[in-house]
Amino acid sequence: MSWTDKARISAAAQAVREIRDNTTIGLGSGNTILRALELAAERIKKENLKITFIPTSYQTEIAAKKLGLKTSDLQEDTEPDLALDGADQIQWRTLDLVKGGGAALLREKIVDSTARRLIIVVDEKKLAKTLGGPNQYRSR
Ligand code: A5P
Repeated sequence: MSWTDKARISAAAQAVREIRDNTTIGLGSGNTILRALELAAERIKKENLKITFIPTSYQTEIAAKKLGLKTSDLQEDTEPDLALDGADQIQWRTLDLVKGGGAALLREKIVDSTARRLIIVVDEKKLAKTLGGPNQYRSR
């Protein structure tokens, strides 16, 4: 497993610890969120949590259904308690970020901005000094 995969899984595991019982969770898109979803499914099963997910793309909707998780949409659940999402690039210091590389931007923006709390899950490969500039990670 590459260090990026390890970092991604570790960040996803940390985010999944923030899930609380009887809540609605917005689900962004991308590989990191798919890892988070798998870890969330394990926790939900083990702890018998009542969680409803609001996917922002077909990718996460299909993945959630395959894992047997309950899904909904913003028409039914207008204010998710939490949203978990990835990002394409994050600026050091300001934590401003770029999204949209996964082509699910509109639904992600709506879900992320309506959620009471948003957690962006990334590995250090996404960090950059300037948005739009090169990413600032060192390969190991
Ligand atoms: C979707 O619009 C994107 O912003 C994704 O959230 C982002 O590309 C996810 O990256 P990973 O696949 O590296 O998690």
